Amino acid sequence: MSNFTFTILKPTAVDKGFTGAILHAVNEGGFRIRAMKMLRMSKAEAQAFYAVHKDRPFYEALTDFMSSGPIVAAILEKKNNAVEDYRKLIGSTNPAEAAEGTIRKKFGTNLQENAVHGSDSDENAAIESSFFFSTKDRFLDDREVEM
Ligand code: RTP
Ligand code: MG
Repeated sequence: MSNFTFTILKPTAVDKGFTGAILHAVNEGGFRIRAMKMLRMSKAEAQAFYAVHKDRPFYEALTDFMSSGPIVAAILEKKNNAVEDYRKLIGSTNPAEAAEGTIRKKFGTNLQENAVHGSDSDENAAIESSFFFSTKDRFLDDREVEM
């Protein structure tokens, strides 16, 4: 499996000042940050990013929320199983149901405002990374150091 995944720190988590604590948890979970930026998506950008959910009942609310304020987008690297291991680190979609110690449990507000996004497949990690980062914005060839 691929070594990369993609994450977004969602608007409520950024607004609440959790950016540093979440990035710390990401690093402590064994992930290196290989690209990162803070930005605000337009409604149209949020609709495009979540196009896979366009027929879901929560699409309108989700894209309103995700364009409501600044987010932090990042590409994360881990030696093996980055996608699967990151979803374990963040926990279940609903923070109320997420396991103790997971990022969504610690920093999530509710089902929609659940602190972070994590890619659900290698293919989507690549698509989502390309949505936000050009090749020159990625630092994938950094020297290896012990973590
Ligand atoms: P994500 O894509 O953000 O990592 O979350 P996920 O895979 O765990 O969940 P997914 O089914 O892909 O849903 C995407 C995001 O939509 C919001 N949501 N709202 N109101 C609802 O029933 C509902 N269900 C999902 C959440 O913000 C979820 O992360
Ligand atoms: Mg998802």
